[in-house]
Amino acid sequence: MKVIGMNGSPRKDWNCGKALDFALQGAAATGAEVKRYDLFDLNFTGCKSCFGCKRLGGPSFCKCALQDDLTAVLAEILDADALIVSAPIYYGDVPGAVRNFYERLLFPANLYDMSKTGYGKRVNVGLIYTMGAPDPAFNGSLAEKDKQKFEMFIGETEILNILDTYQFDDYSQYASAMFDPVAKKQRHETVFPEDCQKAYEMGMRLVAK
Ligand SMILES: Cc1cc2nc3c(=O)[nH]c(=O)nc-3n(C[C@H](O)[C@H](O)[C@H](O)COP(=O)(O)O)c2cc1C
Repeated sequence: MKVIGMNGSPRKDWNCGKALDFALQGAAATGAEVKRYDLFDLNFTGCKSCFGCKRLGGPSFCKCALQDDLTAVLAEILDADALIVSAPIYYGDVPGAVRNFYERLLFPANLYDMSKTGYGKRVNVGLIYTMGAPDPAFNGSLAEKDKQKFEMFIGETEILNILDTYQFDDYSQYASAMFDPVAKKQRHETVFPEDCQKAYEMGMRLVAK
């Protein structure tokens, strides 16, 4: 069993990176081979609408035709048993780089045919979305919408929303009047560890499925 983790935050060891590591540790505890990527280390673009992935009889049919750092990673994901994406919410959505990654992963499987998709196998997916807001509804329940796309084209998908995250190591050093730094710190010390435990359990479940 192989599990690929993708950190979709430019910060490697903050909320997303930490939660992802817990999820991968959970997967590893069940015997899976795990590998983490940091999306912001990769040099790649979003879909360029070349339609190479839909060209009947073409060399890239059902594969992304673009060649960059993401090419090998996409192949590795589709060869794996599970994918865990951990991403922050920026302006109600995942960051542009994560959206670009989703385009490249999802579109080659979309054959514009409701009876079939382009990938021969299914990969279990975990989406961990971390956000400053105290309720996912503030961000349009984004994970639920992304889950629908992943279930259609990649595989069975589960969601973990991590809410009301700690953004700075010292709130007194940053413009942040709307936040209560004491409440933020307390939540980070009490609720975030529980969220990381949920990520760990998600990692275990994704392998067991
Ligand atoms: C550019 C930017 C935009 C953000 N927009 C939102 C937002 O729309 N909704 C929200 O809940 N949090 C928002 N946040 C907060 C982050 O989603 C949150 O702090 C997240 O946990 C950061 O993940 P990280 O610690 O792994 O970098 C934003 C943060 C940044 C830097």
